[in-house]
Amino acid sequence: MPEISSEQLLQDLDGWQRTHGCGELGSENLDQDVCLMGWAQFRRDHGGLIFIDLRDRQGLTQVVFSPDHNATAHEEAHVLRPEYVLAVRGRVRRRPQGMENSKLPTGEIEVVVLEWKLLNNSRTPPFPIEDRIDTGENLRLRHRYLDLRRSGMARNIVLRDRAAQSVRRFLEQDGFLEVETPVLTKSTPEGARDFLVPSRIHQGNFYALPQSPQLFKQLLMLGGMDKYYQIVRCFRDEDLRADRQPEFTQIDLEMAFVDENQVMDVSERMICRLFRETLGVEPLRPFRRMTYEEAIASYGVDRPDTRFDLLLEDVGDIVRDSGFNLFANAEQVKALRVPQGGELTRKEIDDLTEYVKDFGATGLAWIKVRSDEWQSPIAKFLSEEEKQGLAERLGLQAGDIVFFQAASRDVVNESLGNLRFRLGHRFGLIPEEEYSFTWITDFPLLEWNPEDKRWQACHHPFTAPRSEDLERLRSAPETVQARAYDLVLNGTEIGGGSIRIHRKETQTAMFEALGMDPEQAQAKFGFLADALEYGAPPHGGIAFGFDRIVMLLSGSASIRDVIPFPKTQRGTCLMTGAPTEVHREQLREAGIRLREKGGYGTQ
Ligand code: AMO
Repeated sequence: MPEISSEQLLQDLDGWQRTHGCGELGSENLDQDVCLMGWAQFRRDHGGLIFIDLRDRQGLTQVVFSPDHNATAHEEAHVLRPEYVLAVRGRVRRRPQGMENSKLPTGEIEVVVLEWKLLNNSRTPPFPIEDRIDTGENLRLRHRYLDLRRSGMARNIVLRDRAAQSVRRFLEQDGFLEVETPVLTKSTPEGARDFLVPSRIHQGNFYALPQSPQLFKQLLMLGGMDKYYQIVRCFRDEDLRADRQPEFTQIDLEMAFVDENQVMDVSERMICRLFRETLGVEPLRPFRRMTYEEAIASYGVDRPDTRFDLLLEDVGDIVRDSGFNLFANAEQVKALRVPQGGELTRKEIDDLTEYVKDFGATGLAWIKVRSDEWQSPIAKFLSEEEKQGLAERLGLQAGDIVFFQAASRDVVNESLGNLRFRLGHRFGLIPEEEYSFTWITDFPLLEWNPEDKRWQACHHPFTAPRSEDLERLRSAPETVQARAYDLVLNGTEIGGGSIRIHRKETQTAMFEALGMDPEQAQAKFGFLADALEYGAPPHGGIAFGFDRIVMLLSGSASIRDVIPFPKTQRGTCLMTGAPTEVHREQLREAGIRLREKGGYGTQ
């Protein structure tokens, strides 16, 4: 028989309909006639039979082409290659004894093909459509539609849907209204840079894509739309990391007539239900609460991974008068003891020293505690009394290693806080299946921006100060605390919110503290200030990073693995090529002239 080409076999559906998904059939379906459609995962020719694993997003079913059942169908099946699309009609039968596959939900049965259609052929995919592949992420992103066919990716997208449905069900039942807010809006930067959209009608003017619906959700509270929620896309032009995307999704909430505890309570109930409905895990409530100061003191960061216990210890008082200038002169000196960590090699310590330089450190001091001596490049600079003090404070024992950082407060905490994560992994201290939630509270309202030489909001300018601190907003801004809270899960910030300012005078005082003069404040936020004059109710809310939550639920290492079409670290979409240049005509319509490449502001 002359070889048949796949093109000759292509057919249309012509009324065929699927009866089942490819992951559904089991021994309860024996002897049923079924119709399945999907992709050819794998072809084996064996003993005169052709076996295909037929795949759709639900799973795999083995289908068998046998000359005994339909000789033509069997002959034609020789064209099948990976990723060809086919429809089969056939009968479910038990796999022969010994041929069952207990790893597959459909592993007890197979479908004997009575007739089939080739719906489409396929080029050889650039990477195998299998779970464990060592293909670079860029190639996967360029062909994301193929990547999504892999079962791990499909599972993540299904999990994302389940998570969204669970959140929606909870919020609906709790009396929240889903309300949409604009995507083309006014530029009111909240910390990151805005993405701008030029207006064709109002040339020279721009919309901004929202960094979050913050102001609109507050205005909804003023509009009486108590208990708002939205699962909403946000846009931020900022440096990207494994848990950051330029467009990401928030579960955004706002409530009127509430205080911190009510927002935290509703959040906990929503998160617990989400974990129960997606993972079958029941987190303990109430979640632990920790002040910002405690978090920085013991963990070095405001997103502590509370699954393991290595804690930072301030030893500044012990070495204040040390002959070792580095310690004596530093703003802060902290130690991180790793019990029985003395096995670290010089090479590993050198790598850790390089690692902390990412956080502004110039080096990393260390001591290995031996039973008879301290092995360390710095031990010779320390007096007996200092050594004694350190040994007692840190509870040192033979076999331990201690790391020290002496520098500015920020560098000490950032570097040791991140080193702590690294060491937790290195020494296997982090229980994988544990979910440790912590609320961080009592944040400072403002932080000093040394570059711009002004105070900026730690969260955003609409966060309420504690009322007892209000009078110090002008005289001692660094002492004012915010009514803000972040939710941290296993070292990742998954949500943040606050009680808002709802009185005009306070909002004006806040803008002033941020160094905005009244005209600037009016131009930027006048609409909010005006609205606050018309009976604004006390209100507050929170937003959760939905992608981050799904990342943690799925055990993925990167947020990109739970986003169907993510951007790279450089903010590009490798599949479509965005961002791209646009046609000159489009620019002209928008009234935009580009400056020459490398030049400045040629008009
Ligand atoms: P915030 O800026 O803290 O608060 O954002 C809330 C949560 O969103 C997630 N998140 C991100 N996820 C992925 N990529 C990003 N680039 C990114 N940026 C933030 C984090 C974070 O905790 N309007 C306020 C909320 C409020 O006050 O109610 C806001 O947006 O998990």
